[in-house]
Amino acid sequence: MRIGILGSGLMGAKLGTIFARAGHDVVFSYARDDAKLKALAHEAKARAGTPREAAEGADALLLAVHWSRVDDVLHAAGDISGKTIVNCSLPMDADNTRLVVGQTSSGAEELAKKAPNAKIVSAFNTVPSEVFFGVFASRVPRPSLVYCGDDAEGKHIAATLIGDARFDPVDAGPLRMARYTEPFALLVAQLAYEGAGGPELAYRFVRFPEEA
Ligand SMILES: NC(=O)c1ccc[n+]([C@@H]2O[C@H](COP(=O)([O-])OP(=O)(O)OC[C@H]3O[C@@H](n4cnc5c(N)ncnc54)[C@H](OP(=O)(O)O)[C@@H]3O)[C@@H](O)[C@H]2O)c1
Repeated sequence: MRIGILGSGLMGAKLGTIFARAGHDVVFSYARDDAKLKALAHEAKARAGTPREAAEGADALLLAVHWSRVDDVLHAAGDISGKTIVNCSLPMDADNTRLVVGQTSSGAEELAKKAPNAKIVSAFNTVPSEVFFGVFASRVPRPSLVYCGDDAEGKHIAATLIGDARFDPVDAGPLRMARYTEPFALLVAQLAYEGAGGPELAYRFVRFPEEA
């Protein structure tokens, strides 16, 4: 697939590099330092461009910016009608200490209002960025990664990318489930950064059979 990365920081740089290693055609965009963007693209055997260039012809866009930059990067991307947007951005305040949307909505649902003709899927934000390369390098067991969305094709694309990053995609249902996965992302981050195990933390869901 052709994947455009909107926001090439901790999340975008790692996931874009992994998508490129998995064989996708990746265009990195939206960093303040153009030289850093080009070096990142060179290292990942991918391309660097503007958000508009990243969006042109893309099968999927990874949205990985601070919540305060979402409007700016969407504007820079231009027409994204009909495109799948895999959103890992969390609706955090300026200090990254609390969610500014929650309970009755979610960042992903607010994003769907901003881009009503795009196919929004919430994914990847329930994992700290430090974990991605370690998971990609190891074979078993695959950790789980929850995603949710309302569009079947968008969800299929997101599940493919989750599998390519060597996680087990767990379908959490419609996009409104992001009201629960976004706070869950903060729980995982809390456990990763404050817990005794350090930042390298992923999770695994196991289904048990119902009682007979
Ligand atoms: N990091 C995590 O572990 C994690 C986990 C779950 C969810 N998330 C969410 O994922 C999103 C991205 O997080 P992140 O940690 O990847 O953030 P980040 O490292 O700060 O990356 C944000 C990207 O946006 C770019 N950017 C910021 N302001 C810009 C501007 N004015 N013009 C152009 N580019 C600009 C940054 O450029 P520079 O590269 O030049 O700084 C960077 O490439 C956030 O919504 C966060 O809540 C992050």
